[in-house]
Amino acid sequence: MATPPKPEADPWSVIEMINQSPPVDCSKPYDATTLAGKTILITGGASGFGAAFARHWASHGAHLIIGDVNDAAGESLVAELRASAKPDQVLIYQHCDVTSWPDQLALFKSARRASPTGSIDGVVAGAGIVERGDPLNASATNAVFDLPHNLDSDSAPPPPLGVLAVNLTGVMYTAHLALYHLPRNKRGADRHLLLISSIAGLFPLPGQTEYTASKHAVMGLFRALRGTAWTKGVRVNVLAPYFVDTPLLPKAGLALLAGAAKAELEDVVDAATRTMADAEVRGRALVVGPKMRVLDGGEGRIRTVEGDMKRDGERKQAVWDVYGDDYERVEAFMWRYLSVLNVMTGVQGWIGFVKDIFGICFGARREQ
Ligand SMILES: NC(=O)c1ccc[n+]([C@@H]2O[C@H](COP(=O)([O-])OP(=O)(O)OC[C@H]3O[C@@H](n4cnc5c(N)ncnc54)[C@H](O)[C@@H]3O)[C@@H](O)[C@H]2O)c1
Repeated sequence: MATPPKPEADPWSVIEMINQSPPVDCSKPYDATTLAGKTILITGGASGFGAAFARHWASHGAHLIIGDVNDAAGESLVAELRASAKPDQVLIYQHCDVTSWPDQLALFKSARRASPTGSIDGVVAGAGIVERGDPLNASATNAVFDLPHNLDSDSAPPPPLGVLAVNLTGVMYTAHLALYHLPRNKRGADRHLLLISSIAGLFPLPGQTEYTASKHAVMGLFRALRGTAWTKGVRVNVLAPYFVDTPLLPKAGLALLAGAAKAELEDVVDAATRTMADAEVRGRALVVGPKMRVLDGGEGRIRTVEGDMKRDGERKQAVWDVYGDDYERVEAFMWRYLSVLNVMTGVQGWIGFVKDIFGICFGARREQ
């Protein structure tokens, strides 16, 4: 039988341009045994997602360095993991406030020092917080971004930006350090940075303004990094989980969600494990939502099943590749558009640049 012709490379596909892997088929199994012997650093690993990743990955023989501000929870988690770990398995908890650059520098150094190979294979930027104030209650003690008060005074305080400090500055510190330390892993070994955004990175959560801004920013970080990190052999992926019942969610938030479907911690662990274990997943964003009943609809399409009747071939799915097709072309367009603009700027030269700046400042327009 004649071999079918190889499909022509799509010049508009960012997949080829940035070595991004094709959309992840989350219905396919993956091999978690590849985690054995990997050294993985997790920030915010004392609770919730991070602790669940640590439990699962330690059970597969991974070496773990966990940083968090909740020392009691972190120490007790590591004691629990040690009880069933192999004697040579590295399991360390170290105090690390992700908003502190020295803390993060020290955490990465400790990971390299403790790692049996002297290097780090995986990093999870997991630490995160939400706004705790009430977005509808304007009072002097309720520090919420959306409700400024008493700003007439010259000594009025700046807005509360603590969520940005943890969820954005902290994550940027972690990513920056990961981009330094992961490439120091030996050639051919895995080098993976997993970012944790949220469903709030894809659409807004009113009342969680800073949180929404921070998680959109993490999506931006992911999209920018996946275009460059691969040149150093670093895979970058991101999770965007829907609401999961962890200590992160304020009680009021949980009350609002009462009765509504939530995502399950086990599905977040599954999605994170797939990205960490499968070196073929590169530059992908996975949404983790409530489990849905789905059927293969033919031609690679999946349709959801409703109603009480069970259909032949139906299965449950919670994890979805979110940027399967859409942003790839947008990003490819922007890359090309900017490179065209750069060429134009180059042709105009410095004189054109100075004239434009002069025009912007003093209202003069440069002749076209
Ligand atoms: N639970 C959800 O519904 C949900 C949904 C989407 C995304 N997320 C994201 O997942 C990540 C983990 O959240 P979680 O649900 O496991 O919450 P969690 O509160 O259980 O865990 C967050 C951890 O981060 C730690 N942390 C907080 N501030 C820190 C700091 N300055 N330095 C170091 N560690 C710090 C906390 O002590 C805690 O252990 C967060 O980034 C969160 O935004 C959670």
